[in-house]
Amino acid sequence: MKRGGIVRRDEDGFGKKGSGIFDGFDKGSFNKDGFDVIAERWAEMRAKMPVSRLVELFASALKPGGAVLDVGCGSGCPEAKYLSERGFQVTGIDVSDKMVREAVKNNIVNARFIVCDFFDFAPEEKYDGIVAVDSFFYFPLEKQPEVYARLANLAKPGCYVLFTHGNKENEGLDHMFGEPFVSSALDKETVLGLLRREGFRVELSIDDYDEEAWVRKWVVFARKG
Ligand SMILES: C[S@@+](CC[C@H](N)C(=O)[O-])C[C@H]1O[C@@H](n2cnc3c(N)ncnc32)[C@H](O)[C@@H]1O
Repeated sequence: MKRGGIVRRDEDGFGKKGSGIFDGFDKGSFNKDGFDVIAERWAEMRAKMPVSRLVELFASALKPGGAVLDVGCGSGCPEAKYLSERGFQVTGIDVSDKMVREAVKNNIVNARFIVCDFFDFAPEEKYDGIVAVDSFFYFPLEKQPEVYARLANLAKPGCYVLFTHGNKENEGLDHMFGEPFVSSALDKETVLGLLRREGFRVELSIDDYDEEAWVRKWVVFARKG
């Protein structure tokens, strides 16, 4: 189906797992195309936004100069930019080549940006920190359970992970800059169980995090044992 082809949505924009709304639909490439479409406007908006205090906390936990992965880095602002300015060696990956183009335009030092789907990313390098701000929502629901084993594979022992997440299982449509995106989440208990299984200890789990312009349903800060 082409972008613009989605016409169905339920009342609050979210369907239940197995509702059939997205049967036979390539959610990954649908979202990639959408992020390509909005990349310039996203970059302009994010360039004006401050970094969250949680990203500052994440940075202060990391060893100086450590290697940090930004999953779904978008335009690299503000997270990758902030982390590189703090002296970390930042790798940003994003499935949208247009988003990565915006990140490269931002001339961020100590950082490299790679066009890659998180589910295909298999570097030799392991990371001291992994940050994912608002990217896990845009992974297809059926791929959500794989996320934590993949994070564990990318993590050095002691690696800190910071990510935002929905607070209940869902799959549905949301809109940014008028474009539709398929968003999804597992329920919290499932995510916490997967983190535990992969050897992560949750250090902070914050519901309804509200920091000025930075409002998120659930934020997790965890550490690999
Ligand atoms: C809402 S944006 C957030 C961007 C950035 N983290 C920020 O805070 O501005 C979500 C990003 O995740 C990326 N993304 C979605 N699915 C992805 C995947 N499977 N692999 C890598 N990046 C993905 C999108 O292309 C998009 O740039």
